Amino acid sequence: MKIVPKLFSKEDIKCRVDWINNPVVNSTMYFDLPASEEKTRNWFKTIAENKSRIDFTFMGEDGTYLAMGGFTGISEEHRYAEFYVMVNPELHRQGIGKRVCEWMYNCAFLKLNLNRIYLYTNDDNVAAYRIYEKSGFILEGTLRQHKWKNGAFQNRRIYGLLKSDWERQDWKKNNEDEFRLDTANQ
Ligand SMILES: CC(C)(COP(=O)(O)OP(=O)(O)OC[C@H]1O[C@@H](n2cnc3c(N)ncnc32)[C@H](O)[C@@H]1OP(=O)(O)O)[C@@H](O)C(=O)NCCC(=O)NCCS
Repeated sequence: MKIVPKLFSKEDIKCRVDWINNPVVNSTMYFDLPASEEKTRNWFKTIAENKSRIDFTFMGEDGTYLAMGGFTGISEEHRYAEFYVMVNPELHRQGIGKRVCEWMYNCAFLKLNLNRIYLYTNDDNVAAYRIYEKSGFILEGTLRQHKWKNGAFQNRRIYGLLKSDWERQDWKKNNEDEFRLDTANQ
């Protein structure tokens, strides 16, 4: 299956709202619930000029929404950013998460000139941390009972991937052609 990355655009707002409100997605993530199109349109206006984040949408060739993700808190000084990803809740466990994550890691180090990317994930989010660990992320620590979710305090794992870790990975891409980004729809 071909996956087409593009920058997040206003046409994607409805899909983002649907996914955020989907219990499969929000049981593992920390969004301000419920999401609404109005709130998300306002959020979109604020991110348009915000150089400290970049948001992507990943489409199938037939126009199906496959995944969304990106980097937040991008620091030019420290060259780090926090990473996030969510896959269409109807299409989990088909390898999409792994592929879009690896595309974004390559983007972080080849295009965004970052030195470190990191993320937090719940202790029980096996699907997420299997992807990160297989891609070379290092578990840097656990914040014990850090967040309240699903009726209990959740441990939060912090994972990091340095550029030097990424350089050792077999899956990393050096070919700049892999990083064509369709901005025409933005
Ligand atoms: C986490 C998420 C992105 C994974 O995406 P996905 O497309 O379902 O994952 P993949 O199919 O690429 O699977 C990646 C690996 O995790 C494994 N995996 C996937 N779901 C799993 C599950 N529920 N339990 C155990 N392993 C799982 C797969 O077998 C695969 O391992 P493999 O390479 O050894 O076969 C997706 O579940 C999601 O969007 N979840 C909701 C949002 C979220 O939690 N985002 C991350 C927040 S940190």
